[in-house]
Amino acid sequence: MQSKTKYNTISERKSGNLFMDKKTQAKKELDLYYASYHGEKKYVFGEGSLESGIVFIGEAPGADEEATGHPFVGKAGKNLSAFLNAAEIERSNIYITNAVKFRPVKINPKSHRASNRTPSQDEITAYREWLLKELCIARPKLVVTLGNTPLFAVTGNKSAKISDVHGSLIEYENSEYSLKFALMPFYHPAAVIYRRELVSEYEKDMVKFVEAAKALL
Ligand code: URA
Repeated sequence: MQSKTKYNTISERKSGNLFMDKKTQAKKELDLYYASYHGEKKYVFGEGSLESGIVFIGEAPGADEEATGHPFVGKAGKNLSAFLNAAEIERSNIYITNAVKFRPVKINPKSHRASNRTPSQDEITAYREWLLKELCIARPKLVVTLGNTPLFAVTGNKSAKISDVHGSLIEYENSEYSLKFALMPFYHPAAVIYRRELVSEYEKDMVKFVEAAKALL
């Protein structure tokens, strides 16, 4: 899937500059959309290229992401890069964002130190509109959710479990937001580091993802 030309997919080659222009316009729209959000929190917005039609959605920024203002840097970025390398995708060709745009933390009462925590269902629900609007602008063809949080954020289904649906290609449609794309839920790359028993499942999912990307894009 690595490209030698400036077009990455068949549809891009077919529609040429027209497609590129639409995506450039979408990037500008996204920038404007993000610029409309000011607040006391340090937000980390999505970034990357919209041209491949592939969007990856993680859970929420961690300390490195909060410090730099970029999604999936530091250790999480390394995990994601390993994923992308295995799937022969260049990070610069895809768009990466998070379900929740700020770093959820818990404070250790003794040390007063902040550490990452999973976003609450209320937080995920509160940021869901941001995410769905972001997807409306990005217009992806294939969305990969990494872990339970973005799966819930995209589907709105609290009972959807990554262990049941990982690696499946789901036709996602949301009439309220006029969204339609193929959704492939994955385990979060960090989960695979801690739970080695997931490695073989993950590798199988990766093969399915590469097949789906080739077929769809
Ligand atoms: N960093 C991110 O940006 N997202 C995650 O899900 C984890 C770490």
